[in-house]
Amino acid sequence: MKSFYIETFGCQMNVHDSEKVIGTLVARGYRQVETPEEAELVLYNTCSIRDKAEQKVFSRLSQFKRSGNGKVFGVLGCVAQQEGERIFEKAPHVGLVCGSASYNRLPELLVQIENGGRKVTGLDLDTDDTFETPLTRRDNPHRAFITIIEGCDKSCAYCVVPYTRGPERSRTSASVMEEARQLALVGYTEVQLLGQNVNSYRDPSPSAWDFATLLARIAEIPGLHRVRFTTSHPRDFGKEIVDAIDANPVLCDQVHLPVQSGSTQVLGRMQRLYTRDEYMRRIEWMKSARRSIAISTDIIVGFPGETEADFEQTLSLLDEVEYDSIFSFKYSPRPNTPALRLVGQVPEEEKGRRLTIVQEKQRAIQIRRNTRVVGSVQEVLVEGYNRATCQWIGRTSQNRVLNFTHSNGDGKSLLGGYLPVRVTRAGPNSLAGESVL
Ligand code: 5AD
Ligand code: SF4
Repeated sequence: MKSFYIETFGCQMNVHDSEKVIGTLVARGYRQVETPEEAELVLYNTCSIRDKAEQKVFSRLSQFKRSGNGKVFGVLGCVAQQEGERIFEKAPHVGLVCGSASYNRLPELLVQIENGGRKVTGLDLDTDDTFETPLTRRDNPHRAFITIIEGCDKSCAYCVVPYTRGPERSRTSASVMEEARQLALVGYTEVQLLGQNVNSYRDPSPSAWDFATLLARIAEIPGLHRVRFTTSHPRDFGKEIVDAIDANPVLCDQVHLPVQSGSTQVLGRMQRLYTRDEYMRRIEWMKSARRSIAISTDIIVGFPGETEADFEQTLSLLDEVEYDSIFSFKYSPRPNTPALRLVGQVPEEEKGRRLTIVQEKQRAIQIRRNTRVVGSVQEVLVEGYNRATCQWIGRTSQNRVLNFTHSNGDGKSLLGGYLPVRVTRAGPNSLAGESVL
């Protein structure tokens, strides 16, 4: 039996793609191993969103320049699509390069590899396909990812995704519903719907459901207790999504709505297709919902031409929204993207300074926000146990980590169950508490 090792970088889409790739390989008789040393086939599912992410795969590959004899190395995902055959020049020991839009061809490409083929590629981006397989090997026993839409039709000036994942392709609502029903039947209670821009989901079948309809229907599937989705683009995020969350508690009270910058001028140069005011209108919909919706975002600092005054707009937006959490990044110039041609590149040192300021401000906001829920009782899905602290690890519907003790334990594992937990302490990134059962 042939053995393979896979390491995944990047977003949840990539994590889920790897689950599908693993299933495809296992069905072909491959056995997954824990280290690259043991494997005959070594795969890296890569990310190229920022330069640092891209460099990771080349640093991994360089470790095996000499010791990789006899192994086949494969580069999958976004770096594969972006760099294509140039990867064979940079790393001559690589035998397979395949982007995510070509994963449907993986079985065929594997046959070529098995027959001694080298420099095997799957780089077609011009595809109507989405990569679906019933063979998916899900890693998390409680929460399952479901891809509903692949690719992206937006053209944010900084972003590689349109070039690495291709144009938008939605799955039919029937196939998404069927997958969600099957997952519920085998015991999953939480599903997370994935897409680069879930809001532009459009059912290609005659029923033509939009995203809010799909969301509402999935939340009605018996057995599902939590439904989340990511990522939303503010331009396409409609009030009907907030209404759907208000209407059904199965839809988690959590929305990730990347803003990128608080300055309308910068948003214009980023080609984000909304102003600060338009973004804030969406925040207002969520803040005036009946349920208390946790909001998170992505921030880029140091986009070309970002002045100190623009940056201060981002800081004031953080104060105004009071996000529950943020992901913040220094702008990283990416190949092929329009932002490369913009004047006013911000020096690295200045980007670093701005990033630190953003992160310190947000840390204080999170301590403040998390402190407000101390004393409340929250339902958690129990996702793990920490032996060092003797605490269970739970996750609230708002996607906060809540570590808790459970005193009347009868030795039974709580994993995968839902429990009410009283919050007793708050930190910037997590809560602590005790179960009230
Ligand atoms: N530089 C820095 N951050 C980026 N992101 C996307 N492209 C870049 C880039 N070139 C960030 C955005 C996006 C998140 C997934 O990554 O904030 O929402
Ligand atoms: Fe990275 Fe974007 Fe590709 Fe996800 S889609 S792996 S974040 S480059």
